[in-house]
This record gives sequence, C-alpha cells and structure tokens, in this order.
Amino acid sequence: MRTHRETKSTTQNLRTPRQSTFAGGLGEATRPPMGVWGADPPYSVFLKASHVEQKSPNTKTTMTHLFDPYKLKDITLRNRIGVSPMCQYSSIDGVATDWHLVNLGSRAVGGAGLVIAEATAVEARGRISPGDAGIWADKHVEPLYRINKFVKEQGAVPGIQIAHAGRKASTAKPWEGGHSLKDNEEGWETIAPSAIAFGEEIWRTPKPMTLDDIKEVQNAFRAATVRSLEAGYEWLELHFAHGYLGHNFYSPLIKQTHRRIRR
Ligand SMILES: Cc1cc2nc3c(=O)[nH]c(=O)nc-3n(C[C@H](O)[C@H](O)[C@H](O)COP(=O)(O)O)c2cc1C
Repeated sequence: MRTHRETKSTTQNLRTPRQSTFAGGLGEATRPPMGVWGADPPYSVFLKASHVEQKSPNTKTTMTHLFDPYKLKDITLRNRIGVSPMCQYSSIDGVATDWHLVNLGSRAVGGAGLVIAEATAVEARGRISPGDAGIWADKHVEPLYRINKFVKEQGAVPGIQIAHAGRKASTAKPWEGGHSLKDNEEGWETIAPSAIAFGEEIWRTPKPMTLDDIKEVQNAFRAATVRSLEAGYEWLELHFAHGYLGHNFYSPLIKQTHRRIRR
C-alpha cells in the first residue's frame, strides 16, 4: 500500500527548484546526456515519465520509461500511468452507478496502468457530500465488482482510496456550494479528534471522538478493506490528506484535545 500523498509530495518537492530534480537526490553524475530529453524539458516529464537510477559505481545510467511495466509485490502495472482518485459526487447512498463504470472504464480503455477510484467512504458519516462513493455496506460491493471486472478486462489494475472526511463531511456537492449542510438539508453529525469546525463555509462543529469512536472508525476501515478485496480491487490507498479524518490525527491544528479523549 502507498499513500497518494507520498507520491504527490515527492512530485511537488522535485518539481520546483531545478537542482532538486537530478542534482538533489541522485547527484550530477546521473543527469542524462543532453539530447535524451532535450535541453530543458518540463519537469513533469522527468518525474512522471522517467526514473533514473545509478546502475554501477561508474556513471552508467539506465532509465525506465512511461510505458515500461511497474511491479510492486505481486501487482504489475502495464505502464506508469496512474489515474488519481477523483470524487464524482454521483453515487446514490454510496452506491456506484453507470457514471462510475463509464468514467473509470474509459480511463482503462484509454490505456492507464492504474485506475484509482475516488475517495470512498468507510462510514456514511465519513462522506464529504451525500453523493460520495461508499463501501460501508455489503450493497456497495456488487456495483464496484462490475466496474473492476471491466477495468481488468481492459488490462488496467483497479485501485480504491478509502476515506473518512471527518469534520469536512456533511457538505453540499461542490457545484451546489460545498458548504456545510444543515440537519434539515440532509446534513449529519460529523466527528473529529477535537470539536473544532473547519471554518468559513464548512461551519459544522464536529463531535470530539472518544476512544470507542476511534475504534469504531478503525473497524470501519478494516471492513472497507475486506469489501475492497471482495469487489476486486488490487490496490488500496488510505486518504489521510486534505484535512480529512486521518489527517486530523497528525495535525496539531485539530488534534488539540488528546488528553481529553475518554471512553
Ligand atoms: C474533480 C476532482 C476530484 C478529486 N478527488 C480526489 C479524491 O477523491 N481523492 C484525492 O486524494 N484527491 C482528489 N483530487 C485530487 C487529484 O487526485 C489530484 O491529486 C489532483 O488533481 C492533482 O493531480 P496532478 O498533480 O496530477 O495534476 C481530486 C481532483 C479533482 C480535479
């Protein structure tokens, strides 16, 4: 398993200053000769298309390429193109629809090696909006299985990002404003390590979690992982970024009440 953010932060770190692309981690000796990528290629090409490694103590280098397979444990991606998880806000009570079949399926038809489904809630209260994808109940498995079967038939590996939005849950879909929903607008109680609202439009104050709440969410992540296997996913990542629940537990901005966590 890897986290999506690991990949991204590496990308961000390497993208900006020129020195850190090759000179930073790998040393000047590994810089490819001019002409391999041209004098000044875009850094995203360096990062997404190629990886340079030192093969021996001398300066000989080898490159892997965008369309080279990528093996991680027993999973082999046919190339190094991975589709990021992208919320579609198009599920019904968490259940995937034909929208998801076409959206994810067409990425696989297009040739991506890895197709990661959007942030998928491990609990109903962990949805960002009422339209979020879910995997908190057995009814979610079959429609996801259908999508994953198709994705695999096209030669791609289906991945899932399991998620809990924490204090950023219970909001309107982005195109409906993205603000906290009131109770009489389909809104629900949210949870977080501390009773601190995200702020501005996301005004709902979360319930501070007890130890039992934490265990409940841990169990929800476990159950979601088992259902992900049943649904045919071969790659799973935890969405512990973007200010969602997992992220909150390592952010001093929101985890201010650890001493007060109670049974
Ligand atoms: C419509 C949309 C939905 C997104 N949903 C998610 C998501 O569910 N989970 C996630 O980690 N990132 C999500 N993102 C962020 C993307 O996964 C990705 O990190 C971002 O688009 C930047 O990718 P890039 O650096 O390759 O351009 C979303 C982005 C977009 C545009």
